[in-house]
Amino acid sequence: MIPSDSIGTPQGLEGERRFDAPTLTWPEDVLGFARLLSNYAETGLAMHLRKGFAFRARFPMRTLVLAHPRHLYRVLRSHALNYPKDRDYEFLRPLLGDGIFVSDGDLWTRQRRLLAPEFRPNAVQRFLPGMVENVGSLFAEWDRAPGAARDVSDDMMRLTLWIVGSALFDSSFRAEAEKIGHALELCLTQGTLQMMSMGLLRPWMPTPGNRAAQAAQRDLDDIVRQVIARRRATGDGSDMLSRLLTAKDPDTGTGMSDAQALDEVKSLILAGHETTSLTLSWALYLLSRHPDVEARLVDETRRVLGGRAPTAEDLPKLEYTRMVLSETMRLYPPVPGVPRRAREADRFDGIEVAAGERIALSIYATHRHPEFWTDPDRFAPSRIDAVTPYSYLPFLLGRRACLGEHFAVLEGILALAMIVDRYRLERVDTDAIATRPISTLRLARPLRMRVHPRGTVSTFQHFGPTGI
Ligand code: HEM
Repeated sequence: MIPSDSIGTPQGLEGERRFDAPTLTWPEDVLGFARLLSNYAETGLAMHLRKGFAFRARFPMRTLVLAHPRHLYRVLRSHALNYPKDRDYEFLRPLLGDGIFVSDGDLWTRQRRLLAPEFRPNAVQRFLPGMVENVGSLFAEWDRAPGAARDVSDDMMRLTLWIVGSALFDSSFRAEAEKIGHALELCLTQGTLQMMSMGLLRPWMPTPGNRAAQAAQRDLDDIVRQVIARRRATGDGSDMLSRLLTAKDPDTGTGMSDAQALDEVKSLILAGHETTSLTLSWALYLLSRHPDVEARLVDETRRVLGGRAPTAEDLPKLEYTRMVLSETMRLYPPVPGVPRRAREADRFDGIEVAAGERIALSIYATHRHPEFWTDPDRFAPSRIDAVTPYSYLPFLLGRRACLGEHFAVLEGILALAMIVDRYRLERVDTDAIATRPISTLRLARPLRMRVHPRGTVSTFQHFGPTGI
């Protein structure tokens, strides 16, 4: 997890270079679309390797697909105002309302300013004890059935929900956080299906999936409203929600309405748990296939932690843990692609962009492109590639970059280091796990592992073949 600041400014991206941006032929387009539906990340990468860094698809809608860092820089940074989040995010609106993830314009600026202080590098350190406590609760579950096969990807999902839930509402609200997470997941999956059906499945249709999502959304709103009402009534609490409810915009002196707070709480839980959970699951998966990397990581965590809970002082010493997470997110960026829309016509590097044109940024393809990474599909946390600016952006960069990056980095390092220090995780089967991109880059099937406390680890080594 290289924090975005260390990416530096995009020097070297200027200069003359022409890109053709060929339009796919109809067979390529239609076949590509079928593949796209099943796995847009892999299909996008294959298309970029064949067609170049920029190409155009026409089916089912005209889209300019970009993967070169200089184009990502243009869309996300230098000309970001011309490339807002747009219609592609509308499917989230019934769920997240005007929350920060989907809003734009003045409202977004105001909300980002109100929320940002909670997520600064120094500010997120105060969540460390809560994170450690939640990891400890997961360990208590693991210790009740040592060696039993578990769905570790589900464990990571619950853990990251607890963590974001206790940061927002204190740990006493863990049960609520879990209910909220499940309801969000249901609504999100249904929303994604609606979006991918290209109009065939509408939110108002009385299908079982739609009805379940609507019920989940009502429950969700009720739970969060009750929490907000309790906080307003008592006015106490040291969690993030209490501070958000009293935060005032420095310019206008106004605070957040309950309706806005409801949307922000849902947005933070949605944006703040699945991404981190997927990073941890992919990291554990990769470690199970790379015993050499795992051994080095164990060495670091034993040296730095040796079985005790981490403190803020330990974090800089967990450098290899950080490198493992960074490399995991290069290979498996939790958000593998990002859509935008051109407000006005634009022209760069020989590419003409029409006003209103849909743009797709292939983060997954940029992260695995041989022009920027040696042996790009190899898991190599110690790789020494000089990172081209805007070739590595799991948290995105620019104006709409992830708000929770420092929170996620802290959480990821703590959780991975604590897990590896205390347990050896052994895959139940050794088959490779494919990617299943929805909005996030999910694992195509559960990561089933046996969890052995270190010290009582069976001598049976069950590593899969190396390679991804
Ligand atoms: C490894 C973990 C994470 C990754 C890889 C990640 C990645 C991203 C990415 C790529 C975006 C931009 C999405 C887009 O434009 O479509 C984003 C936005 C966002 N993320 Fe994260 N995220 C992570 C964890 C978190 C956490 C823990 C939180 C909060 C607790 C969070 C809060 C947000 C918010 C609020 C936004 C919207 C920002 C805005 O539009 O102004 N994220 N994240």
